[in-house]
Amino acid sequence: MLLRNIPLFANLGDAELAQISAEANLKQFPKNKVILSEGEKSDSLYTIVAGKVKVLISDEDGKEIILAILGSGEFFGEMSLIDNQPRSATVITMEPSSFNVISQADFIRCLTSNAQIARTILQTMAKRLREADKKIESLALLDVYGRVARTLLELAKTENGELVVSQNLSQQDIANMVGASREMVNRILKDLAQGGYIKVESKHIVINEQLPSSLSHSTA
Ligand code: CMP
Repeated sequence: MLLRNIPLFANLGDAELAQISAEANLKQFPKNKVILSEGEKSDSLYTIVAGKVKVLISDEDGKEIILAILGSGEFFGEMSLIDNQPRSATVITMEPSSFNVISQADFIRCLTSNAQIARTILQTMAKRLREADKKIESLALLDVYGRVARTLLELAKTENGELVVSQNLSQQDIANMVGASREMVNRILKDLAQGGYIKVESKHIVINEQLPSSLSHSTA
């Protein structure tokens, strides 16, 4: 993917784009590689050229909660460059991935000299805050059935007229997105399949339109 095709850089002028291209580093990583770790000091911004990452926070026992999954064209690592604080979360590749990496100095220069870049960053941060608000709502107000149902609906895309969760997500990943154990998620997926709400296929989950995002244990 060319730098020009990354939404964050799409509106840069030719000279600025050439300067960033000259300084950006293309880095490739295998699946399950920790790209940055919560609490670390660091000075790079990553835009995803290809692949997929999970953004998570974890405790000392290795229990983790996935805050977001980001894919090609999206970026991460901006927060600590903006506020000079340690990394707010850990980022791990979910598949072989390549990133364009730029330094804090280049990022801040772009941000201050290009209003459109600043706007894109603010819009993306607002979008992520809205999603984090939804997550807080789910964790505080929905039971685990509702959280699984809502997460499946958020991940689903329409493919050939069907609502499909086609990400290569493990049940452990889903568990880490909803704050539950893998066993619990396994049981809920079985219940939802038995109730006709979903069909679990080898790498896909097909969602029946009747799956309500407000599902609770009593309706499952
Ligand atoms: P930074 O704190 O530098 O390093 C971790 C990165 O994860 C962070 O920047 C953001 O890019 C990303 N991140 C943190 N929290 C979220 C979230 N709730 N949703 C999406 N991305 C996030």
